[in-house]
Amino acid sequence: MEERHAAKLEICDTLEAIADSLPAGVDRHRCLVMAALLLPTLREAHAYEEQTIFPVFARREDRAGSVRRLCAEHVEDESLAEELTEMLLHVGHGGEIANPEALGFMLRALFEAMRRHIAFEREHVVPIARRAMRTPASRLTASSRRAPRADRGSER
Ligand SMILES: [Fe+2]
Repeated sequence: MEERHAAKLEICDTLEAIADSLPAGVDRHRCLVMAALLLPTLREAHAYEEQTIFPVFARREDRAGSVRRLCAEHVEDESLAEELTEMLLHVGHGGEIANPEALGFMLRALFEAMRRHIAFEREHVVPIARRAMRTPASRLTASSRRAPRADRGSER
């Protein structure tokens, strides 16, 4: 997860550099590279988190709300990334930048949302997932139970 965060933060830095260079100084080759990387990187990272990390993080019920919010943010980020990919392809292929303010606004909306999302995951999800993945699942479920199960023990 931390490697994926690092890759996504690099993407954020590149998106910010593109936004800062609009319209005259834009590096069109960089736009093409981002258009190719952005969605696949996000989708792979999101799928990994949702399939591998969040189930571990959400073993405590009070974290279910956080997981729902993080998953909703994944959907939002991917849909914004889809729109941006088309625009980056257009610019990368030498297309006119008709509305640099709007493109800059969209770029900022995505990298700022991604940075906030990653900061939350780093602070709240990574430490718990790291601990949980070092602890056998049987011990985790036993220690997270507040009371012993009443349906056992009366058998003998
Ligand atoms: Fe995430």
